[in-house]
Amino acid sequence: MKIFLDTANIEEIRTAHSWGILDGVTTNPSLAAKEGRPFEEMIKEIGDLVDSVSAEVISTAAEGMIKEGLKNSKIHKNVYVKIPMGIEGLKAISALSKKGVRINCTLIFSANQALLAAKAGAAYVSPFIGRIDDTGHDGMQVVRDIRQIFDNYDIKTQLLAASIRHPVHVLEAAKAGADIATMPFKVLEMMTKHPLTDKGMQQFLDDWNKVYGKK
Ligand code: E4P
Repeated sequence: MKIFLDTANIEEIRTAHSWGILDGVTTNPSLAAKEGRPFEEMIKEIGDLVDSVSAEVISTAAEGMIKEGLKNSKIHKNVYVKIPMGIEGLKAISALSKKGVRINCTLIFSANQALLAAKAGAAYVSPFIGRIDDTGHDGMQVVRDIRQIFDNYDIKTQLLAASIRHPVHVLEAAKAGADIATMPFKVLEMMTKHPLTDKGMQQFLDDWNKVYGKK
């Protein structure tokens, strides 16, 4: 499973990139606004570090989404244009994908939405697990349903598990066969940790030092 960071913070991206495990980055308007930097400069910088960076459109009508999507796609060769699900979104996905622009269809909350986005030509579909869980429904079931539908029909669109809140979401997404999981930096950091790893390391050092002394 590919690991993406869900952030526009360049320091977090550089840090995860230095660990050798980062495959891509997703941004959204809220994450971009949090950084407050010029959008194009930010996307360009991220695109130089990873093979996939999602840059979302702000327009709500298909015509504007297409115009903006084409503009965003030219910022860097690694850009995936993020288009929100909906009728206008589907029209834009269909038009842009025919022009060779790779699309990440965002704000997916049901498997039917994912099926339509894939049919329109999206390269990625992004079900929002955490936000579905917040409504009292099982976000991971949507991921499982999408996986089953895509496998049934040999749909090549990649399933990108989004709105991940904790390491168990990552584990479950991997078990459900998500192609990609995008997560905040703090979740990625938590995945590296286990109390027994720290305890074990301390024990090894203590045993070594008892015999060989500190260097
Ligand atoms: C997906 O690409 C979105 O940026 C993201 O995962 C949304 O997550 P949130 O629900 O934590 O805002």
